[in-house]
Amino acid sequence: MTYRNDPYDPKQVALLDPAALAEAVADATKAFTAAADPDALTALRPAHLGDRSPVSLARREIGALPPAAKSDAGKRVNEARRAIETAYADRAEVLEREQAERVLVEERVDVTLPFNRRPRGARHPLSVLMESISDLFVGMGYEVAEGPEVDLEWVNFDALNIPADHPARGLMDTFHIASADGSAGSGLVLRTHTSTVQTRTMLSRKPPIYVIVPGRVYRTDEIDATHSPVFHQAEGLVVDKGITMAHLRGTLDHFARAMFGPEAKTRWRPHYFPFTEPSAEFDVWFPEHRDGPQWVEWGGCGMVNPRVLRACGVDPEVYSGFAFGMGIDRTLMVRHGVSDIRHLFEGDVRFSRALSTGA
Ligand code: PHE
Repeated sequence: MTYRNDPYDPKQVALLDPAALAEAVADATKAFTAAADPDALTALRPAHLGDRSPVSLARREIGALPPAAKSDAGKRVNEARRAIETAYADRAEVLEREQAERVLVEERVDVTLPFNRRPRGARHPLSVLMESISDLFVGMGYEVAEGPEVDLEWVNFDALNIPADHPARGLMDTFHIASADGSAGSGLVLRTHTSTVQTRTMLSRKPPIYVIVPGRVYRTDEIDATHSPVFHQAEGLVVDKGITMAHLRGTLDHFARAMFGPEAKTRWRPHYFPFTEPSAEFDVWFPEHRDGPQWVEWGGCGMVNPRVLRACGVDPEVYSGFAFGMGIDRTLMVRHGVSDIRHLFEGDVRFSRALSTGA
């Protein structure tokens, strides 16, 4: 049904009445103001500005007016429509701004809220290094062996050709374990070196023996930048037919290159250990030392003393062997330019994080 051809109808023409148009504007404005959000406002548009809205219907009535009245009526209708359009646009602007502000408030991320992901710690650089040393030797066919940190004096000393009156016992400042009633010695000590596992390994298995022994050892040293009563060693023991010092040398040079780079090598100085004969102390050449390329003391080594082989039930006429022991803490410190051993034992995660990768 269209209105254009409708016959004149006083009820419709009544819409052109200024009061009716003012009411249409007032209704529209009131409705727009009540709209709570842009979608609600859009839904109101047809009723107040659409084809069937009062202002649209009013415009249609203009045709039915006498020519003299048309211009006035047209102006009134246009004004009313503009007023409604303006009310709509104003409300739309307000609602959109409100919505934008609401989004800013409701979807705000509070970056100061506590977060629930705990920062991860890091594996201790010493553990990582002990593992990589073990891996290196496992790659050469060795097995990883371990022993107790509290051990028999006999295992720590006697079996290694260090009898009670031997001066070497005095050189290693030993923690003795008191007996339960505190009267006499218990015969137990905190092991002073990982060489205890030489004894234990030879007593518990038959040659050929190829073992690497990473572990913690104890000596009654005062704590300072280079000493700690607890430190770590890696011990190597090989017992097989035809083992010579050349095997030991090649093994230690390989070990040195793995730890200190392809330019690294070892230098040996004659030394004395009761459990090896001959014995040597060895240094490692570290080209990337913090203070410039230099030799660094690394450990002790030698051919397993036949007396030790015999004490552990291995026939020295058939088998020979080599052994070495070196400081793991020292290795870590030299490699990373750590000047104070106490950093290794304080448990500061920043230290562990910085050093545990590629240790
Ligand atoms: N146990 C010796 C030490 O702690 C090192 C060593 C091990 C020497 C094996 C020779 C053979 O000083």
